[in-house]
Amino acid sequence: MKSAPVGLVYVADLSRMNGPMFRNEEAQRFCAWVDTGFISQNVYLYCASANLATAVLALIPRDDLGRLMGLKDHEKIVLTQVVGNHL
Ligand SMILES: Cc1cc2nc3c(=O)[nH]c(=O)nc-3n(C[C@H](O)[C@H](O)[C@H](O)COP(=O)(O)O)c2cc1C
Repeated sequence: MKSAPVGLVYVADLSRMNGPMFRNEEAQRFCAWVDTGFISQNVYLYCASANLATAVLALIPRDDLGRLMGLKDHEKIVLTQVVGNHL
């Protein structure tokens, strides 16, 4: 993340996930994970088409990163993804 030209941080705002789909926090988190998978896969597809390298990173210091980004309690980091040139 430090050396990549682009670092993406996918954040779910649970306070905006209302309605019948989101009965409880488990349902909110489930949808956030699935949606983030879709988004991340689209980034993978674009990178493949543009000959760029990319990787998702889940083993991240979420609390530290959230503090650095000034996230609120209801804003949850789901995944990060780096994009760069092939080595
Ligand atoms: C959901 C998910 C989370 C991942 N988290 C990490 C991670 O935290 N750190 C890491 O080094 N690789 C992680 N990986 C693996 C990398 O994204 C990548 O797949 C791996 O480095 C192999 O990349 P390559 O196939 O382009 O060589 C994760 C993969 C997935 C699918």
